[in-house]
Amino acid sequence: RPRVLSGIQPTAGSFHLGNYLGAVRQWVALQETHDAFYMVVDLHAITVPQDPKELSANTRLAAAQLLAAGLDPERCTLFVQSHVPEHAQLAWVMNCLTGFGEASRMTQFKDKSARQGADRASVGLFTYPILQVADILLYQADEVPVGEDQRQHIELTRDLAERFNGRFGETFRVPKPYIPKETAKIYDLQDPSIKMSKSASTPKGLINLLDEPRTTAKKVRSAVTDTDTVIRYDTENKPGVSNLLSIYSTLTGKSVAEVEQSYEGKLYGALKTDLAEIVVDFVTPFRDRTQQYLDDPETLDSILAKGAEKARAVAAETLSRTYERVGFLPAK
Ligand code: TYM
Repeated sequence: RPRVLSGIQPTAGSFHLGNYLGAVRQWVALQETHDAFYMVVDLHAITVPQDPKELSANTRLAAAQLLAAGLDPERCTLFVQSHVPEHAQLAWVMNCLTGFGEASRMTQFKDKSARQGADRASVGLFTYPILQVADILLYQADEVPVGEDQRQHIELTRDLAERFNGRFGETFRVPKPYIPKETAKIYDLQDPSIKMSKSASTPKGLINLLDEPRTTAKKVRSAVTDTDTVIRYDTENKPGVSNLLSIYSTLTGKSVAEVEQSYEGKLYGALKTDLAEIVVDFVTPFRDRTQQYLDDPETLDSILAKGAEKARAVAAETLSRTYERVGFLPAK
């Protein structure tokens, strides 16, 4: 079985619809066909200021949401990044292989540091993508299911894997991004020119999966469309409507063409009312399941402990091979 690996930050509390449609949904599907490793990236979460109590609570919350979304610990390896020390260890080696200019070109760093004020951004935020490289290479992943915003980090991963292999001998598998087109980028419901995200979206443009379903329905019904009336997928001229059609199509399993057809001659209001219902039908059981996992932290923690053990076995092997190739004297 080919292997996939991916991660999600625990920082934000509730996942948003972009996280789910862009990434987590694919994770659930891929556990059936791939040897799948998924993690909550708490090491990445401390690259920006955070509260220790919130971090540990949000880490559990993220794991609970992943299980609620359909990850099955019998079918995939679900773990917390900091439980596997090899991530930080391989990241150091990768740091030493990355050019300063190369790291400076990462657009996510530029965006995030600009938001914080360049002087206040941490060195950890700067090297964030290199830790992500280590995450992926440790597991010899073939594919990395993510949203479009992560593509540059996967490119960096490929570059560093090839560089290391070239310099020290074949060690890492060179992974490919796995980014299905339709859900690669889910947009803000109020401003379809920006992606849906915790940091940039307005509250009304962001669908948090754990929000009150009534609030969520309202946000969908008041999504921005355009002054035209035709329901047609056209990202250039109708970004708002197209975004709604992508969400509709993915959540119902109907193709965009089918959805367009069923709304022929109807108004935007009809589409939005129906979509609001579809989203509510998705988030309501999702919230309940998340709460069930949170109510039983012992089971949750034991799932994560087993996951960490499985992950470590793979990670330790890659790390020890890497250390050997680099020339570190083996500890006797
Ligand atoms: P994070 O936590 O920001 O987001 C988790 C996943 O959600 C996707 N995503 C979106 N997809 C479509 N439309 C959107 N509006 C949208 N917003 C977010 C992201 O692309 C991501 O796949 N650096 C990563 C976490 C990470 C990682 C890794 C991923 C750390 N190590 C190793 C893959 C492999 C991040 O911050 O994702």
